[in-house]
Order: sequence, then structure tokens, then C-alpha cells
Amino acid sequence: MTDTDATPTEVPVADADWWRQATVYQVYPRSFADSDGDGLGDIAGVTSRVPYLAQLGVDAIWLSPFYPSELADGGYDVADYRDVDPRLGTLADFDDMVAAAHGAGLKVIVDIVPNHTSDQHVWFREALASEPGSPARARYVFRDGLDGGATPPSTWPSNFGGSAWTRLTRPDGTPEQWYLHLFAPEQPDLDWSNPEVRDDFKATLRFWSDRGVDGFRVDVAHGLAKDLVEPLRDANPKDFGLPTDGSDPLYDRDEVHEIFQEWREVLDEYDPPRTAVAEAWVARERVSLYARPTELGQAFNFELTRAEFDPAEFRTIIESNLELAAESGASSTWVLSNHDVVRHATRYGLPATTDGDAFLLSGGTSPELDRATGLRRARAASMLMLALPGSAYVYQGEELGLFEVADIPDDQLQDPVWIRTEHGLKGRDGCRVPLPWDTSSPAFGFGTHEPHLPQPAWFADSAVSVEEGDADSTLSLYRRALALRHQLQRGEDLTWVDDDPAVVHFARHDGWHSVTNFSTEAAALPEGEVLLSSGPVETPAGGAAQLPGETTVWLRVR
Ligand code: GLC
Repeated sequence: MTDTDATPTEVPVADADWWRQATVYQVYPRSFADSDGDGLGDIAGVTSRVPYLAQLGVDAIWLSPFYPSELADGGYDVADYRDVDPRLGTLADFDDMVAAAHGAGLKVIVDIVPNHTSDQHVWFREALASEPGSPARARYVFRDGLDGGATPPSTWPSNFGGSAWTRLTRPDGTPEQWYLHLFAPEQPDLDWSNPEVRDDFKATLRFWSDRGVDGFRVDVAHGLAKDLVEPLRDANPKDFGLPTDGSDPLYDRDEVHEIFQEWREVLDEYDPPRTAVAEAWVARERVSLYARPTELGQAFNFELTRAEFDPAEFRTIIESNLELAAESGASSTWVLSNHDVVRHATRYGLPATTDGDAFLLSGGTSPELDRATGLRRARAASMLMLALPGSAYVYQGEELGLFEVADIPDDQLQDPVWIRTEHGLKGRDGCRVPLPWDTSSPAFGFGTHEPHLPQPAWFADSAVSVEEGDADSTLSLYRRALALRHQLQRGEDLTWVDDDPAVVHFARHDGWHSVTNFSTEAAALPEGEVLLSSGPVETPAGGAAQLPGETTVWLRVR
């Protein structure tokens, strides 16, 4: 056969845009499924639950860090970026997991933690064993103290409480230099002006991309570039937000974008190009800079994690983020819950005066939780999110309607926030409790051993095995919503329908409408075929169908 008479072979077209409208399920590996019975979730556990995730109807899974780690910060203290923590499995297990996910049509995203390593990383050990000014120390941020050495080099605070500087002591007890850690002392910050650091991370991106990983979630993307010119300037107080001109010494500096432009070149070496999503807690108008197609391509919008259950707030957040995403060329992202915030079923069930973050972090007595209200609103908000154009990020357990676990005994708390604030703030363990898969003991099907964080008795009501058999459960709602989203999701347009200020109503395409009533009073339900609702829709005898309070309905309007 010659070239001219060859019938063209069908080359599968790589869908480079798969992420734009994807639903991404966040797995917190240590708390998802434990295959070997040591109380800690693992990679083989994820593999075993791939059928569950495929049935749920998500498009991709994102794994929080599973790398070797001392677990000083839930795995966000990485000791080796190119391996699997032996407690969580092996690289072969990882390859099996990717193969199973891909076989089920799911993409795989992994977390990359570039701002800091673990203090167990070989580089930091080398730095400790080396002299001030040595190349080994130049990968991190070491400085002499002020006032003869005893005062930290600057006033910079750690995000977990206390100073961002820790002083080293020689084996003979003599104090010496300080090193920077914007998080826990076990998480020393890298110096990203060092080319060796830059090259090493590019090698890591290639390592996982070569293993078939489809994308990366970039931890603390806004923190890599720092103004280290002495004297070190004070940081902006957190309460006032970050400046919007890139002038903060620590976060959201303009130079950070050069790093991500280099990353984009690496991501584009692959077909389809690998995706990336930035975790960047920056001013709204600066988020889209990270999402430019020449950089990471997408950035998290966390505004819904901070919003009240309030129609005006939701509407403003949706409008502005769709505009910003369109400006950058990315699609928008939506997040109601993740491993760092109070689960949304709890946020919406707390008294209106309670700030969710304060509750998350409070060391004192938890305010009264109204579970029925919390769950009703959470289901409505989730359906609203799943009707929006863009990517929806679903955090493990939200599909079960889980609440935050508020009563973990103090002596079992693991979050470094708890320790760094000297037990003033509890931290994030309440959303990281291992999932309930069934009603068996001792771990609700999570594994065969006591889980690493204690599960409450009420998990029995929310176990997967229970909810699977209940057509009205939150799991059934997510499954139906995700199946419909797959059928209906085309294009990225949204048209607002303004009929009632208590209602957020928008139309997508082909007559698909999403209508959310934020008030507790019933509202008029627009005419149309009800496709799905987050709560029961009633039609009074002889009257028109009503949209109950705190409910979302999807309609097809002809
Ligand atoms: C990110 C992670 C958080 C972690 C922190 C430090 O904000 O989401 O869990 O503690 O980075 O790595």
C-alpha cells in the first residue's frame, strides 16, 4: 500500500478543553478509603472507589497530596515530590489508580505544593547541615536575625499563627540563622528566584505528566514570589485584604506570573496540554491573571465558600466571576466546600450572626446547628452551582450532605493551626474526617480499623450504602444532577431572568432554567417541565406549582 491509496486512519482527537465545564471531585486521600486497614486512606482505596465516582457522574478527580510527608499539615508538607507516601501506597498503585480512572472516563489532577517543602525534604536537610550563605541554603529563605540575631528578620506572620520565622540552633546549642515558613515551621518556604528551584519543579510537572496525569492543582500559587530586598518590609494586615497592584511583599506579586508562564510551556509539551488550576487567595480582579491561557489556564474562585445564603450575594459573585473568567479566556470555577473550609451544610445551618471561618477555627463551644436548614440550603446551593457554566469542584462527602464534625476531642486534633495558636483555634479537621461508606463498625466501611480521625455516630445516617437506597437522599440528588448536567451542559452562556429579588433565576441554553428561592416563603415557579428539584415541589389543588423556600428547581422551558 502506498501513501496515496491509504485510507486515513482515525486519530482520536484529544479534547484539550475537557476542563472548561468539568465537575471535579476532590479526594483528600488520607480520609477517602483505606484499603489496607491501617486507619489511613490510601491510593488503592481510591482505585477501589473509582466505580463509585464514575457512577456519581463526575468528570475528574483531584487528589490532595499523597506524597511522602511527615503529615505536619495533612500532606501539604511534601518530603519528595516524585513519590507516593509508603503509608498510602507505591508508584505502581498510583499507576493502577490512573489506569482505573482513565478506564472509567475520569481525568486525574494532582496537587502540587511549590511554595514550601517539608522540613524532611532532602534539600532542607542539606540546608541545615550547611553554612549560612551556602548554595544549599539559597534554595530556601534563610536570614540573620535583627538586634544581634535574637529578633526575627521581619514581622511577617505565619498563616497558622505566630511568626513566619523559626530560628535554628546548632547541635551544641548555639543559636544561628532564621528560616521563613509562611505556614508551619515544618514547611520551609522555597526561594523561587533560585533557578535550581524553578528547574526542579518543571521536572516534577513532567514526572507526573509522563505518568498520565491530566492536570495540576497549584497550592498557594500566589505566594511564590517574595520581596526579599532588605530591610524586609512589613506585610499588609490580612483584615484589609491584599493590595491590587502587586505591591505586597509576600503575596500576589507580579513576578509570580513569570513562573507560571514557564510552567505553561511545560504543560503544553503534552497532547492534550496538561491543565492547571491556581489556588490564589487574592483580590477578585487579580484572580484571572493566574487563569490566563499563557499561565495556569484556570484559577479557583472561592467566593461562594465565604458567601451567606443570600440571593444578592450569590448573584453578584456569579456575575462578576463569569465576567472575569471571560476576560482571561478561562472558564469560571465554583467551590462550595473543600478541605480548608467548614462544610457548606454546616455554614448554612449556623445562626446568621456566625461567621463560618470563626466557627471553623473556634476553640470554644460551637453555636447551635440547625441541621434541617443547613441541609436544605446546601442542596439548593449545590444544584445552583451545578447549573452554572464553568467547572464545579465537589469536595468528598458533600455529595452525602455531610456536616462538619464539630466535636473531635481536643487530644485527637491534627491541624497545625490547633498547635500554632496554642489551642486557641481548632482548625480544619472537622471536614477531613474519613468518609462513611456503610454502617459497619469500626469505621463505617472506610477501612477495617479505627480511622485516623474519629467519626461521629450520625455518620450512620449519611453513609453511601444508606443514601444509595434512598431516592430523596443528597447522594441521589447529586447523581441525578450530574447526569442531567452531562446531558444539558453545552456552551458557556447564561441569561439572567429577573422576576423576584429573593430568587436567583437564570437560563442556560435549549430551555434549561435553574431557579433558586433563597427565602423561606414559597415563590412562583415559572412554567416548564420540572427536571429536578432539591426539595419537594408541591402543586396546591387547583393552583399553580410553587417553588418552595430554600429550594432550587431545574426546568425545561419550551
Ligand atoms: C493550601 C492548602 C492548605 C494548606 C496550605 C499550606 O492553602 O489548601 O490545606 O494548609 O496550602 O500548604
